[in-house]
Amino acid sequence: MDLLEQIDRQRVPQHVAIIMDGNGRWAQQRGNKRLYGHENGVNAVRQATEAAGKAGVKYLTLYAFSTENWNRPKDEVEGLMLLLVESINTELQTLIKNGIQLRIIGQTQGLPLQVQQKLQVAIDKTAHCETLTLIVALNYGAHQELADAARQMAIDCLNGKLSPNDISPSTVQQYLYTASIPNPELMIRTSGEHRLSNFLLWQMAYSELHFTPVLWPDFTQDDFYKAVIDFQHRERRFGGTTSV
Ligand code: IPE
Ligand code: IPE
Ligand code: MG
Repeated sequence: MDLLEQIDRQRVPQHVAIIMDGNGRWAQQRGNKRLYGHENGVNAVRQATEAAGKAGVKYLTLYAFSTENWNRPKDEVEGLMLLLVESINTELQTLIKNGIQLRIIGQTQGLPLQVQQKLQVAIDKTAHCETLTLIVALNYGAHQELADAARQMAIDCLNGKLSPNDISPSTVQQYLYTASIPNPELMIRTSGEHRLSNFLLWQMAYSELHFTPVLWPDFTQDDFYKAVIDFQHRERRFGGTTSV
């Protein structure tokens, strides 16, 4: 049976987050430069986005560039930024046509100006779309996000908008980049690595984690459906118990 049909429509995760990993190894296996892997990773982004839409997921977050990825060789970083700009150019009409709203989380002010401008155009042109929200984590790091939230809370305490005694977990949640977005129920990481690499640490406190050895450029719609089906077989307890 078709994997999409095996998904229980009543229990589809609202928000799925993906650590797209393995582009470099995929290229190396083919005797090519790492950038070739990133270029082929764009196709997998299309596959994941289309599958998320078909499965009825409302928010899809893709980890595209971490605050630590600046440590890579200059030509790889520049190639990734260029690829981002090109992909926005080629995909924007498809996003609009399919009702996909683009959002960015991360320190966008640290990105090259040309990238910032392109992103803003795409954000504005898709702002009315409501089938699926595609959140791209760019220059994103969870530690940076939490430090930014702490700084803003301190500023608001100084200017009287917030009282230190009122700071609760839900206050912190409201100061994150993802303030208006529900936390992901499911996180997928490709390439066989089993770590979080500074991704959504606060938001994933109770996410189900799905790891697959598939390298990101090979990720298909079926791989996405398999992760959702795996999620639907998990028993989520949230610290309680389901037996009485
Ligand atoms: C993920 O693939 C893409 C980015 C981090 C931008 P990698 O480039 O990390 O690929 P591997 O892990 O080296 O194979
Ligand atoms: C995580 O992958 C970041 C992105 C996918 C953008 P990395 O490949 O950078 O993570 P590590 O270095 O293996 O932890
Ligand atoms: Mg990697």
